[in-house]
Amino acid sequence: VTVYVPNDSGALALGAGRIAAAIDKEAQKRGLDIKLVRNGSRGMFWLEPLVEVETSEGRIGYGPVQSKDISGLFDADFLNGGTHALEVGPIDEIPYFKNQQRLTFARIGLTDPISLDDYLAYDGYRGLKNALAMSGADIVRHVTDSGLRGRGGAAFPTGIKWNTVLNTPSEQKYIICNADEGDSGTFSDRMVMEGDPFVLIEGMTIAGLAVGATQGYIYLRVEYPHAHRALNTAIAKAYAAGYLGDNIQGSGKKFDLEVRLGAGAYICGEETSLMESLEGKRGLVRFKPPLPAISGLFGKPTIVNNVISLASVPIILDKGGEYYRDFGMGRSRGTLPIQLAGNIKYPGLVELAFGLTLRELLYEYGRGSASGRPIKAVQVGGPLGAYLPESQFDTPLDYEAFAAIWAVVGHGGIVVFDDTVDMAEMARYSMEFCAIESCGKCTPCRIGSTRGEEVIKDIIAGRDLHKNIPLLRDLCDTLLNGSLCALGGMTPYPVLSALNHFPEDFGITEQASA
Ligand code: NAI
Ligand code: SF4
Repeated sequence: VTVYVPNDSGALALGAGRIAAAIDKEAQKRGLDIKLVRNGSRGMFWLEPLVEVETSEGRIGYGPVQSKDISGLFDADFLNGGTHALEVGPIDEIPYFKNQQRLTFARIGLTDPISLDDYLAYDGYRGLKNALAMSGADIVRHVTDSGLRGRGGAAFPTGIKWNTVLNTPSEQKYIICNADEGDSGTFSDRMVMEGDPFVLIEGMTIAGLAVGATQGYIYLRVEYPHAHRALNTAIAKAYAAGYLGDNIQGSGKKFDLEVRLGAGAYICGEETSLMESLEGKRGLVRFKPPLPAISGLFGKPTIVNNVISLASVPIILDKGGEYYRDFGMGRSRGTLPIQLAGNIKYPGLVELAFGLTLRELLYEYGRGSASGRPIKAVQVGGPLGAYLPESQFDTPLDYEAFAAIWAVVGHGGIVVFDDTVDMAEMARYSMEFCAIESCGKCTPCRIGSTRGEEVIKDIIAGRDLHKNIPLLRDLCDTLLNGSLCALGGMTPYPVLSALNHFPEDFGITEQASA
């Protein structure tokens, strides 16, 4: 009997390591023969640690399992899908999971992430096989046709970026995967690296073939040690099986790949400071232009893409650009792995085509707040994303629809707050965050964030609102228009959205604002 216990950080934090060891021990004690597989997480975090058993009716789940439940599970014959209070039935039938459109996450939770055999058995390396038979321009065309836009947050068309690198002559080019996932409430990059590292390796290899780059780097945040191990194990296996190195699958083409660790600075997720850091320097933002696609790492043409962007490439090359483009709405094509976090009953990973509304996500998937109180606000797109009030919950997940209400989809992280949240305090925190993480290169962000926090503190204390509110707006205007990068440039999103949608939390009454 095959038993699955996730090895994902989220599950491990909830005791999955202990559960796996306890199941193994109990099976030995009872003389039962089991095969224990450490899979990725299905992304239904309220069920973690989620134990699955392979049966003739598919994989039956039990969760959340604690050590004290193990002997009871064996008594209930869970190895044959027996009934137990923790049983959640066939995993594939749970609506939260069943109703998703998993393209990038197709394998995650199903397979042993570091088994190349599993990867190949579940359609792995089919995209690379197709890519090896194509010219670089044809690979780029597929990516362009797919409509894929950068999933790190900026949503720049991936095909156009790749085309710029393809058409910039150089004896050396680079592929960088930005795995410095720093946004609050986001974890999709981590889940891919821990739950299906080969898909990222395959995506980067295809990118290398597309533009003629022979060296790739995964810039990984140091806070992801499990992802680090999974990636290094998978990279070693890919080399051993000829999927990386000097002669990929006998094609004579070359691509090398290694992981580099960051040191814990949020700003090193910004592509130019990331490259400074990779070059061994302090993570300071560079002026653009030149674009990294023209002059990037060590001054060479460089693709910098987020984990999810690169991990979406294999399925595009496997099934064709049009297949991917058929999902989504407007100019937001394909699927988005959405991360539901914060005060939400069913937190987790939901991959769906663009176009569903926030309300559907929050109530049909998330089932409302964990506290049971009304949801007051959600922050979409990380610490630099706007806060959205209830009146905007019918906005479809679509880059343009969000832009139209002065919000961002970003990396797809959604953090939920109930009606006990104080939005003035959240606005203050946004400025504090910017002050702490500022690289210090430009004045609006370096000084503006500290002054901004002071002004919001004054507002919270009720001092001179008629002077301080316009001052805060003026300061936000300077940050928006005068900052060198998105950190300073986007901090006004959470600050002003909080102020505009929840003026009462800033002590503004109808009278005071009039
Ligand atoms: P950007 O708009 O300056 O650039 C987007 C990308 O397109 C860059 O890679 C840029 O080099 C490239 N590009 C632009 N024009 C190009 C051209 N003509 N040819 C080729 N490439 C071109 O945005 P930026 O500063 O890279 O990203 C900001 C975003 O990052 C924000 O929207 C925010 O949502 C997101 N973010 C994500 C975080 C995460 O943890 N995933 C953390 C913080 C911010
Ligand atoms: Fe550095 Fe902030 Fe300026 Fe960005 S906006 S370059 S983080 S000082």
